[in-house]
Amino acid sequence: MATAHSEDIGGPAQPLLSVTNLRKYFGGTKGLFDRTAADPVRAVDGISFQIAKGDTLGVVGESGCGKSTMARLVIRLIEPDEGDVVLDGQKIGSSSGISVREMRSQVQMVFQDSYASLNPRLPIEDSVAFGPIADGVSKSVADERAIEILDKVGLDPKIFLRRYPHELSGGQRQRVNIARALALEPRLLILDEAVSALDKSVEAQVLNLLSDLKTQYGLTYLFISHDLNVVRYISDHVMVMYLGQIVEIGPVTTVYEDPKHPYTQALLQSQPTMDPHNRTTEAPISGDPPNPIRPPSGCRFHTRCPIAQPICSQVQPLLTKTADGQRQAACHLTASAQTDSNTNTTA
Ligand SMILES: Nc1ncnc2c1ncn2[C@@H]1O[C@H](COP(=O)(O)OP(=O)(O)OP(=O)(O)O)[C@@H](O)[C@H]1O
Ligand SMILES: [Mg+2]
Repeated sequence: MATAHSEDIGGPAQPLLSVTNLRKYFGGTKGLFDRTAADPVRAVDGISFQIAKGDTLGVVGESGCGKSTMARLVIRLIEPDEGDVVLDGQKIGSSSGISVREMRSQVQMVFQDSYASLNPRLPIEDSVAFGPIADGVSKSVADERAIEILDKVGLDPKIFLRRYPHELSGGQRQRVNIARALALEPRLLILDEAVSALDKSVEAQVLNLLSDLKTQYGLTYLFISHDLNVVRYISDHVMVMYLGQIVEIGPVTTVYEDPKHPYTQALLQSQPTMDPHNRTTEAPISGDPPNPIRPPSGCRFHTRCPIAQPICSQVQPLLTKTADGQRQAACHLTASAQTDSNTNTTA
C-alpha cells in the first residue's frame, strides 16, 4: 500500500508536526468583572513542541496533566483557545494552510478503549473499510484495502473479515482499531493509551506490530502512555508534562538516564523496580497533583519539589536548553538558561 500522502512537502528536515503555544481551559466564565465566576480548568497551558518526520514522541505525566487534551487539540476533536498546530509546514484551520478535514486525512488517532471505538453491528471488514468509503474511495477498493491492512496487522482476513467486535479478544480489537486508522493512510498516528488495557504479553505483541508498521508505512507517532517502560521502549524522544505544561523534553535515553527536572526524576524513581538493591521505601512524589483550576504560582511543581527555593514559588521557569545541550527542561535550579527559545524540537 502506497500512502496517498507520502509526498514530503517540506523535505525531511521540516518537522511533521509543530505545535506552538497551545492552550485549552475548560469551563469557567468569560465575564471579566463577574467575581462569582468559576475559574476554568487549565488543562493545557501554553505548550510548544515539534515532532520530526519518522520520529516517535512519547508523552508521560500523571493522570490529569493534560496528555489526552493535548492530543485532542492536535487532531481538533476540541478547539484550542490559543496556539497553532502546523502539519508539514501547513497551518491547520487557516486559509493559507490546510483545513481540519485535510488534516484528518493525514492524522489518525487510536484510543485506549478498543471496544467503544468499534461499531458492534459492523463486521470487521466493514469497520475498516468505513473510513475510506466516507472519504470517497469506492467500495471495492476500500474492501481490498481492508483485506490488505488486516493482514498487515496480523489478523488473517480469511478468519476475521466477517467477525464482529464481540467475537474478538481485546488485543485483536486493538489491532482492528490500528487497521482502521491505517486504512485512511495517515502520516501521523496519535496513540492515546492505545496498549494500556492489554495484558503484558499482548501489549508487547502490539508494540512490536506498531514498530513494524511505522517502518513499513513511514509513519510518525505521538505516543501517550502512563507506562514509563513502554514509552522508553517505543519512543525516540519523550515529553514530560505536569499540570498542563511541559517540564522536560528530549531524546528518550538522555531523559531516562539523566533526568534534569525534579519532577522527571521523581516520576522515574516512582517506577517499581525488580532490583532488590535498588528499592525505595519512600514515595518519591508525595501527595496528589495540585488543583489544575488554581495551579501553584511560579513553578507548578514547587509545592512537591524536594529542592524548591524561594524563586520557585515566585517566577515561572521557562523551558530552556540544559547545559549539556541535550534536551530542554523548565527548572530554575537544574536547567541553566542557555537559550530563550521556547520551542522544543525532537529533531
Ligand atoms: N471536557 C472536559 N471538561 C472539563 N474538564 C476537562 C475536560 N476534559 C479534560 N478535563 C480536565 O482537564 C485536565 C486534563 O485532563 P486530560 O484528560 O487531558 O488528562 P490526562 O493527562 O490525559 O489524564 P489520564 O492520564 O488520566 O488520561 C483534567 O483536570 C481533566 O479533569
Ligand atoms: Mg488521558
